[in-house]
Amino acid sequence: MRLIVQEDYQSLSEWIAYYVASRIKKASLSLSQPFILGLPTGSSPFGMYQCLIELYKKGIVSFENVITFNMDEYVGLPENHSQSYHYFMWNNFFDHINIKAENVNILNGNAKDLDAECERFETKIKTLGGIDLFLGGIGPDGHIAFNEPGSSLTSRTRVKTLTTDTIIANSRFFNSDINQVPQTALTVGVGTIMDAKEVLIMVNGHNKARALAQGIEGPVSQMWTISALQMHPNSIIVCDELACNELKVGTYRYFKDIEKKNLDYKTLLS
Ligand code: GLP
Repeated sequence: MRLIVQEDYQSLSEWIAYYVASRIKKASLSLSQPFILGLPTGSSPFGMYQCLIELYKKGIVSFENVITFNMDEYVGLPENHSQSYHYFMWNNFFDHINIKAENVNILNGNAKDLDAECERFETKIKTLGGIDLFLGGIGPDGHIAFNEPGSSLTSRTRVKTLTTDTIIANSRFFNSDINQVPQTALTVGVGTIMDAKEVLIMVNGHNKARALAQGIEGPVSQMWTISALQMHPNSIIVCDELACNELKVGTYRYFKDIEKKNLDYKTLLS
């Protein structure tokens, strides 16, 4: 696992956007197949999306040959609800780039048969040859996508009941009213994420510090689903200084040292 420590949220967002753009560009040179990108929502990826839109507008990256799969979606929220992940993705990203609408895949949280919807999603990912790069954030309890503590580390896309912790954390998007937050969601599983060729998780802010330390220094455990990344052959966590607060000094210095030549985002596209 790599850990890239960035100064603040802005440089974290730029680093990740440049990294994603470099991966898409590299794939477009060497492959005739589309690049398959897994995407998150939440406040953490917002800056990265802004930066990717700028890179697209400057002609540095194109999404013409990119197929996306989103990690998760609430159950029962209309797609045009301001807090649905459909709305978030179109409003904050897809509407501003040249992606083809048919290349966007977001779980349908209003499907009549939710289990069948999850199976369809998994099958489509497999049919396309798997996800090249899966991006994600984490919750303060270390969850990736909506894989709450206790989720099997081999889980696949499914319906998941949200924990009270997550409902409280996400109520900030629902007028701080926990009763407005959906109780269930569709989410890719930890196993679905682990099958990606590469996984990049972004972690910013002091409130994620404990989860970051557990993910990097703790044992692999279903109680901190982020820790599954320790078993992935090609995973990167990009964090900011605030999120490092609970890391051991030695861990922090070790990653700062071995990654010192890779911290400048501008080198990623050169
Ligand atoms: C939700 C999403 C996760 C996301 C997490 C953190 O629970 N399902 O995918 O990583 O929130 O969100 P934020 O980035 O807003 O802290």
